[in-house]
Amino acid sequence: MGNCLETSARVDSRRTISGASKGTNTNSTSRLSAPSALIIPTYSARSIATESVGTPTPRSDGQFLSPNLKAFTFSELKSATRNFRPDSLLGEGGFGYVFKGWIDEQTLAPAKPGYGMVVAVKKLKPEGLQGRKEWLTEINYLGQLHHPNLVKLIGYCLDGENLLLVYEFMPKGSLENHLFRTGGPQPLPWAVRIKVATQAARGLAFLHDAKIIYRDFKASNILLDADFSAKLSDFGLAKAGPTGDMTHVSTQVMGTQGYAAPEYVATGRLTAKSDVYSFGVVLLELLSGRRAVDKSKVGIEQNLVDWAFPYLADKRKLFRIMDTKLGGQYPQKAAYASATIALQCLNEDHKHRPHMSDVLASLEQLQAPPTSIRYSHMENIPAPSPVRRSPRTRRSPRTPSTPSVPASPLGSLQRSPQVQ
Ligand SMILES: Nc1ncnc2c1ncn2[C@@H]1O[C@H](COP(=O)(O)OP(=O)(O)OP(=O)(O)O)[C@@H](O)[C@H]1O
Ligand SMILES: [Mg+2]
Repeated sequence: MGNCLETSARVDSRRTISGASKGTNTNSTSRLSAPSALIIPTYSARSIATESVGTPTPRSDGQFLSPNLKAFTFSELKSATRNFRPDSLLGEGGFGYVFKGWIDEQTLAPAKPGYGMVVAVKKLKPEGLQGRKEWLTEINYLGQLHHPNLVKLIGYCLDGENLLLVYEFMPKGSLENHLFRTGGPQPLPWAVRIKVATQAARGLAFLHDAKIIYRDFKASNILLDADFSAKLSDFGLAKAGPTGDMTHVSTQVMGTQGYAAPEYVATGRLTAKSDVYSFGVVLLELLSGRRAVDKSKVGIEQNLVDWAFPYLADKRKLFRIMDTKLGGQYPQKAAYASATIALQCLNEDHKHRPHMSDVLASLEQLQAPPTSIRYSHMENIPAPSPVRRSPRTRRSPRTPSTPSVPASPLGSLQRSPQVQ
């Protein structure tokens, strides 16, 4: 394996506000980059690792990146995916393509299709320091974190220009595909939506307990197992939370338009409450079946939060934003309770947003049979404040606090269909 990590600094145009990123589909979301701070500093492999998890992982030519992970050779992964055959393509993201592959369960050596264990192999596009940085951050975090609601990273490959990651295969793909793809899978029933929200909240609460800010919570990063169990994927933007007396970490603004918290986009000050905001956006997507940002819509409807916010606190009007694909098949009380949680997560003032542990507890109550639904945890969460949020609902979608970002990259409709 070669060492291709010592790359000199350059601007990654996929992250610019004015540049195109991963395609042209306007229905999809796009990643944000700081309006002016586009120069990514030169990182050595070691400095990236230290920044990511606090404990540097030794690495150089021939050394492994994480003792918990298998270091694959490129030819092993070529063979596991049948030479990255197009019909093995599971999807495409900002940094590369994801292929289905097979490996032996015991030895992890490549196996014939249909034999051994199915894996998802992410092959990074050979461009951009940011991609490399995220690849390494992902290895550092997922090589050390294990939880039923985090996707399992099995290994990686570092071979010259080729950077790859090997994950457990999630047969139902991403939540994004299920919620928004027209002509795709059956619409998710209410109970599954609440299950997914609860499990994703559990994954996020686990990260926050470990003082890690995820920074990229969105429907496409929630992957679904055969029984619709949810797991968070993509830890490339994860960041160690503030330590000591610090209230936040200052960072270059990264994330995805429509999901990133407004105060983080405006100031670069990152807290765990930024993730809580993103969680509120995904909860709204689950309730409404609409994308966080949808440029095919007109006016305020382009931004889900701006459009839905006025209806969330009104029991009688909530049905107006509920996903019509549910066909009215949802318990009204639970829908209202979920809307209340979303409202609290989306509070403009991050200090008034609940902790993920409170959100999780509230969602767990919703999974219980209707007669036992109580709102005890909700009582501890500051009351939602539509007044505090109201300026957002009035302002134009393009204001300094939500800088305009090019329409995304790569719409799910442009991605290759899933192979399952
Ligand atoms: N472990 C996996 N098992 C099954 N399918 C997967 C797995 N990982 C990714 N995919 C599929 O590949 C698609 C692309 O994933 P990827 O993480 O590269 O991009 P993304 O999350 O869609 O976009 P972005 O780059 O903006 O985060 C996913 O939407 C999903 O359908
Ligand atoms: Mg992803």
